[in-house]
Amino acid sequence: MQKLMIQGVKTAVEDEQDLLQKLRDMEAAGIKEAFDDTQQYIKRDLKDAVIVITGAAQGIGRAVATAIAYQCPRALILQDVKEHDLEQVVRELSSVGGKVIYQCVDVTDDDGMEDAIHNIVGEYGKITHAVSNAAILLSGPLLEFSVEQFEKVMQVNTVGHYNFVQKCVKYMLESKGGGTIAQVTSKSTFKGSAASLAYPASKAACHSINQSVVLEHGNQIRINAAAFGNFLYSPLWTDPENGLFVQYSKNQGGNVIEMFKKYAGQTNDGKFCTYSDAARAMIFLLSKESSFLQGQTLRCDHGYTFW
Ligand SMILES: NC(=O)c1ccc[n+]([C@@H]2O[C@H](COP(=O)([O-])OP(=O)(O)OC[C@H]3O[C@@H](n4cnc5c(N)ncnc54)[C@H](O)[C@@H]3O)[C@@H](O)[C@H]2O)c1
Repeated sequence: MQKLMIQGVKTAVEDEQDLLQKLRDMEAAGIKEAFDDTQQYIKRDLKDAVIVITGAAQGIGRAVATAIAYQCPRALILQDVKEHDLEQVVRELSSVGGKVIYQCVDVTDDDGMEDAIHNIVGEYGKITHAVSNAAILLSGPLLEFSVEQFEKVMQVNTVGHYNFVQKCVKYMLESKGGGTIAQVTSKSTFKGSAASLAYPASKAACHSINQSVVLEHGNQIRINAAAFGNFLYSPLWTDPENGLFVQYSKNQGGNVIEMFKKYAGQTNDGKFCTYSDAARAMIFLLSKESSFLQGQTLRCDHGYTFW
């Protein structure tokens, strides 16, 4: 038995499995916390919104979608490639108030995304807001990381973001009202990463895409991003097969508890990012509260990176 500092609380942990289970339990509570923390504010802004979010079947996308659903937009469309999980999230949110539907679409699919956004506009008359969230992370040392792995990360994270933004902008411009786009991104936008070099490259490229969209369409489209630090309780980290704790243990040598201590200890306040952080930041970026921001990537990482 050893004591670990988890989110500022000293917690007894038996072994690696116990730590992973405790983090998964925190994740479940994190979804509810994200909802609770976003109820007090900004309801008026998103009431008439038609909002689409990618990668909404699990993790941060699911938490942000849950918080947005409770803002009761006119329609909330959840996209992902995991149909079964999407169905379940939609079922959970169906009693909330606004219309919540899903589309099974891959962000890298040009025609599929065109059809998906076209169908939203056909059904609801417009698309007013979009959240680009879907991404993947494959890690590995430079000399062992294949070109195929590198391309895969760039394909989903950069080409996928580009494809989604392009289709949303097209239909936002056509409906004359313009629109607001917010990207869920990472502190890796600003900082390279040892043994995980494709992911920062893919996120830095998205930062450039966003700025270029502003330069071309900034009078009608507002686009910003929130760059988060590590959500150490998210499935991306805790997945027992291929989560980052498992990947990093292999790549860096060390067990899951050592990896947790390393990554939990990297922020200035000793806390990792939560779904509440993500929900509050994304609702802020989607709402008029952030109308003065354009082409920005906000650092939302508990003091992990500085300008
Ligand atoms: N988890 C973290 O610590 C962390 C930290 C900073 C930023 N982020 C960012 O947050 C976002 C969400 O990450 P997460 O941790 O929730 O990851 P996740 O893997 O739990 O969820 C990502 C979702 O995207 C979906 N997806 C993957 N490829 C797709 C594709 N080609 N088309 C459509 N959907 C696809 C997956 O099915 C999954 O449901 C990502 O942009 C990620 O870079 C995550």
